[in-house]
Amino acid sequence: MKRILTGLKPTGDLTLGNYIGSIKQMIKLQDEYDSYIFVADLHALTIAQDPKLLKERIRKFIAMYIACGIDPKKNVIYIQSENEFIPAISYLLECTTQYGEASRMIQFKEKSKQNANFSVSLLTYPILMAADILYCDSVYVPVGIDQKQHVELARNIATRFNNRYGETFVLPEPLISNVGTKIRDLKDPSKKMSKTEENPQGVISLFDSVDVVKSKIMKATTDSDNTIKYDMELKPGISNLINILSSIEDKDIKDIEKEFNGVGYAEFKKHVAEVVSNFISEIQEKYEKILNSKELDDILNEGKEKTRKLAHDKYEIMKEKMGVIR
Ligand code: TRP
Repeated sequence: MKRILTGLKPTGDLTLGNYIGSIKQMIKLQDEYDSYIFVADLHALTIAQDPKLLKERIRKFIAMYIACGIDPKKNVIYIQSENEFIPAISYLLECTTQYGEASRMIQFKEKSKQNANFSVSLLTYPILMAADILYCDSVYVPVGIDQKQHVELARNIATRFNNRYGETFVLPEPLISNVGTKIRDLKDPSKKMSKTEENPQGVISLFDSVDVVKSKIMKATTDSDNTIKYDMELKPGISNLINILSSIEDKDIKDIEKEFNGVGYAEFKKHVAEVVSNFISEIQEKYEKILNSKELDDILNEGKEKTRKLAHDKYEIMKEKMGVIR
């Protein structure tokens, strides 16, 4: 089985958009690949975080992923910072990365412009990400389009290292999901539903209460045409709700249009609100059971041991090849 690996940064909120656009995708892939999934907590530190909140969020994110259906039997699940060999590998990779190529990363250019006092780790961010990917010979890396360039950099770093020191790394490829539907902001359907959105009314959090979920959907922006028809250009608001329903119920868009033929927006919204809030409350029920369980610690300990061994072995191979060995 080929190995896939993805990381999620524990910042912002986990949203329905994340579930439909990416978590659902990972759930599908876990049957076909040897899957690794981790919380990239070290990556969160490139910007100052509230330590207490970060600590909580690391555990919350993992519990929520499992509650959504990421199966611990099919995935190696771990916390990045519990594997000290990853930053060690990252340093060795920094030595085969050019300053020019790191500083050309779009994310670095944008974020360093936003804050004059940006940290050095903002520049080395994609090299740490390369270490995440390369230590365990990941073949595919499912990421959003914004991270594609970082996976390509990892591939370039690996190629350079292999050329200089001999075959050491598998060359990874980004796996950009175009299958998962992009869910839009409920208030402004021209934007994607984003976990760092300033307007929380447009974003459904997987941690929202049933009442909040319902109210957000009932207040979603729509047009005034009052017919349930899918048209992302002319009717983005209602089409977004159709997408959400289609994705959660695994129904065809055409079938939804037929089912709600002649039904007005208020009634349709009520139905979507019902379906989504039921879905979320089921997930939350599982989440509550997992969050403080011993089982979750067992899963994380197992992931930690397994990936530490892999990363340690890769680290030793790298050191040997680079000549930093007794
Ligand atoms: N940088 C990614 C993001 O912001 C998270 C991440 C860290 C990651 N390491 C990774 C994703 C390795 C894929 C593979 O979303």
